[in-house]
Amino acid sequence: MVKVTLANDIYWVGAVDWNIRDFHSYITSRGSTYNAYLILDDKVTLIDTVKSTFSDDLVARISEIINPEKIDYIIVNHVEMDHSSSLPKIAKIAKNATIFSSERGKDALIEHYGPDFNSVRTVKNGDELKLGARTLKFIDATMLHWPDSMFTYIIEDKILMPNDAFGQHLASGQRFDDEVDEHVLMEEATKYYANILMPLGLLVTRKIQEVVQSGLTCCMIAPSHGIIWRKDPSKIIKAYTSWAAGEAKNKVAIVFDTMWGSTDKMARAIAEGVTSEGVEAKMLKLRASDNSEAMTEILEAKAVLVGSPTLNNGVFPTLGSFMTYAAGLKPKNKIWGFFGSFGWGGGAVHSMAEMARKAGFEVHEPGLQIKYVPDKEDLEKCFELGKQIAKEVKA
Ligand code: FEO
Repeated sequence: MVKVTLANDIYWVGAVDWNIRDFHSYITSRGSTYNAYLILDDKVTLIDTVKSTFSDDLVARISEIINPEKIDYIIVNHVEMDHSSSLPKIAKIAKNATIFSSERGKDALIEHYGPDFNSVRTVKNGDELKLGARTLKFIDATMLHWPDSMFTYIIEDKILMPNDAFGQHLASGQRFDDEVDEHVLMEEATKYYANILMPLGLLVTRKIQEVVQSGLTCCMIAPSHGIIWRKDPSKIIKAYTSWAAGEAKNKVAIVFDTMWGSTDKMARAIAEGVTSEGVEAKMLKLRASDNSEAMTEILEAKAVLVGSPTLNNGVFPTLGSFMTYAAGLKPKNKIWGFFGSFGWGGGAVHSMAEMARKAGFEVHEPGLQIKYVPDKEDLEKCFELGKQIAKEVKA
C-alpha cells in the first residue's frame, strides 16, 4: 500500500469505496471514501475510523506505518456508522487506547456499541490535547450534521479535520485537490452540500464566522469523505459561505415525471418560456435523474417548477418521493410552482402545493393543470408560466 502523507508524521489511513452508489438514498454516482488519519507523536493518535466493511483496509494501512496496538488515542469526531463502525475492532486491537469524543458522542457510542464505551473521555469546545510535539484542539460542531459532531484541528500544522463538513462522495486514487479534476471535485462538493448540509445553512454560517473570528487558519482541510483540500482550502469555505447564505443564479429547475407524455410536453413548453427570458432552465425528469441530482441543481436555482401527472387521485410516486426529500432538505429562498396533467379528478398539483406549504416553501399560485393531453392553447399557458416565473427570478 502506498503511504499517503498530509504532513510529516500525519497519514491518511482511510478506505476508498469505489462501488457504493446509494448512501442512505443519496445517489453516489462516483463512489466515496471514508477518511481516517493517523498522527505519529509521543501519543500515537487515530482520528476517526472507516465503515466496518473496510476495517481490514484501515488496519492494513495503519500496520504499514506502525503496529496498531501502539495507538494511544482515538478521536471520534462523529458517531455515524460510516466513520465509527470499525471502532469496536480497532479498540480491541489497541487495547490501551483512550477514546475521545464529544459528550453527546459518548452517549451515542454507548447506544451504538454498548457499555464497553463507558470509558470514553469527553472533550468540549476549545479543549486541547497534547500529543507530544503536536496539539489537537477540539471544536464543537453540534448538528453539523449530527448532535455529536465535532471538528479536530492540529494546531502546529494548521490542519482542520471537520469530519463530514467540506467533504464529497468521490472515490479516487488521488487524495488531494491539486491531483484531481477541479470541476468534478466542485460538482461533487456541491452535490454533497445540497444533499447533506442544505438544511443547516444557518449553523454553517455561524460556525464559519466563529472559526474565522477566533483567528484559526487552515493550511489544509481534511474531511472524512473524498478529497483533501490543500491547494486552496479557502475555495470550499467560500463555496459553503455562499450556499449557506442561499445565494443562487438566474436559473429554474424543472423537476417532473410523466405517464403518457403530457406532463413531459408541459415541462418542455415551460422550459421554453423560461429560456425565452434569458434565464437558464434545467430539466430533471425523475426516473432519468434522481432526487440527489435534482437537489444539486436546486441548490443554485431561484425557482423550482414541479410537474406530476395525477395517479389514483394523487401525486405520481417519484414526485411524492421528491417532495418528501425536498421538504427535509429545506432549500432556502426559492419560488415553488406546480403543474401537471390529469384524466378526470385531478389531485397531484394540489397535493404537491400542500406539501410545499407545509414545508414552509413560497408557493406560486395558481398551479397549472391540463386535462389528458395538452393542446396548443394549453402549451401556450405552460410557456407563459415559464416566462412569468423567469421574470420573477430576474426581479
Ligand atoms: Fe459521513 Fe454523518 O457520516
